Amino acid sequence: MKQITVTVNGQPHSAEVEPRLLLVHLIRENLNLTGTHIGCDTSSCGACTVLLDGKSVKSCTVLAVQANGKSVSTVEGLCAPGAALNPLQEGFKENHGLHCGFCTPGMMMRATELLEHNPDPTEDEIRWGISGNLCRCTGYNNIVKAILYAGAKMRGEEPASTEP
Ligand code: FES
Ligand code: FES
Repeated sequence: MKQITVTVNGQPHSAEVEPRLLLVHLIRENLNLTGTHIGCDTSSCGACTVLLDGKSVKSCTVLAVQANGKSVSTVEGLCAPGAALNPLQEGFKENHGLHCGFCTPGMMMRATELLEHNPDPTEDEIRWGISGNLCRCTGYNNIVKAILYAGAKMRGEEPASTEP
């Protein structure tokens, strides 16, 4: 067993874990943060995407021990309970960017990093940026609109109309 300390959404957590434990299982089972989903467990779908020291990673491909001493952000950290929605959350809500919602936490964490590096992305840049995250429901168009909306909000601009 290995002793690790990981800061998750700003809170330090210490745990004794098996070296083979995946980060996604630490997040979901040890910390009870079940917003991070498991779609494939084989690094294909992106549902498990979180930020590790600010960089988006598929947490089913990272060992918990690799996160030792690092900072993890999950979808739960996007907005404190009772606080106003994060621009991405608002964007997904306003643009119908989710249907079943299974892919949504991973999409939003991936989009968080994307907008941090590229605050004013084109539609093509967004499509490329989320190409590692699969959605079986939406056809992606409304996800792209949601991210464009969030980018505009973050830049202090009026988001484009959400009408089709
Ligand atoms: Fe990690 Fe699908 S569960 S990529
Ligand atoms: Fe269902 Fe994306 S909203 S998988």
